[in-house]
Amino acid sequence: MTLIETCEDDFTPCLDSWDQVRKEFYADAPWMLSCTYKNAMDLLQRETSTLAVIARDGERPVCIGSLERIPSSAVMKISELAFLKDEEDAGREVLERLIERAHDLKAATLSVWIPESNERLRALLQERGLEKSMEEGVFHLYLASSATQETPWFTISSLAEGFSIEEFVTANRTAFAEDESRLLEEAEVREWIGQGERFDPELQLVAVHGGDAIGTVLCELSPNSIREDGPSDAWVYGLGVVPAHRRRGVARTLIEELKRRLKKRNILDLYLLSDVEGGARPFYESAGFTMADVYAEYSFSLEPGND
Ligand SMILES: CC(C)(COP(=O)(O)OP(=O)(O)OC[C@H]1O[C@@H](n2cnc3c(N)ncnc32)[C@H](O)[C@@H]1OP(=O)(O)O)[C@@H](O)C(=O)NCCC(=O)NCCS
Repeated sequence: MTLIETCEDDFTPCLDSWDQVRKEFYADAPWMLSCTYKNAMDLLQRETSTLAVIARDGERPVCIGSLERIPSSAVMKISELAFLKDEEDAGREVLERLIERAHDLKAATLSVWIPESNERLRALLQERGLEKSMEEGVFHLYLASSATQETPWFTISSLAEGFSIEEFVTANRTAFAEDESRLLEEAEVREWIGQGERFDPELQLVAVHGGDAIGTVLCELSPNSIREDGPSDAWVYGLGVVPAHRRRGVARTLIEELKRRLKKRNILDLYLLSDVEGGARPFYESAGFTMADVYAEYSFSLEPGND
């Protein structure tokens, strides 16, 4: 018989079961363990976390699910839904609890991001009426097979070498001027850097030409639960080159330098999220990344009558 346990306010009692189920559930999509939430602590100990549900078969946790409120909106997000093999029924039950709670909290929409490769989860969501609303490609580069490069006409610096966060963000915003949704804020970069090892300043690179920043890339190390002895992979964010210096090898060199620095730390898997079609995909493919999966959002309207 499946027992359902819920946690609110204090999520500490859930943490062990959480990581246990995630590790097994995402065995075929290890990048999920380091993508948005790195581990149970990360996921549940956020201010926005609202509810965690665990289904158990005796002592053994077989399904986990959690709900998160997106600040200042009527959207609620299932921040996690994972279940062990042959435990679809527990998955259904936990999903119902999450939908029920989102209804009680008067959310208008419920959404969840999942790896498309996970057919069991996809089927369960579709069966309950959630529909795909967005998708992004997960691109992967295995660093052990990378080539060396020639000396560029610009230099590479980093936030560890005294380059200011303000200049870094200005260059990044110039590069992303065409896409407002991806504009970085200085305060958020300061907050990331303040997290220490995870956003090590040595890995936040900037290409400099004539004293100006012309390209930037941010990198996060993933303290996920696969490897106990340190981060096993890294994620790239905000790779951007100012329009005047594009197609001159700046982005390629930034990625090459990042690879070099990561390999020194024995990190061999590099991931990023990008458009499935178009966007920067041609660049990433030319840099050797391959699309590992699609990370898709499924959503469900909670308006009256849709339950
Ligand atoms: C994507 C971006 C970072 C590429 O920077 P870049 O410095 O111009 O790239 P590089 O010169 O190093 O390109 C290396 C190779 O990638 C490929 N490439 C790069 N941009 C490309 C484009 N727009 N179309 C097709 N191929 C492209 C080419 O094969 C290129 O080699 P080539 O110039 O010898 O043909 C830059 O266009 C940019 O800042 N775009 C806006 C921000 C953005 O979309 N960032 C990605 C976020 S997910």
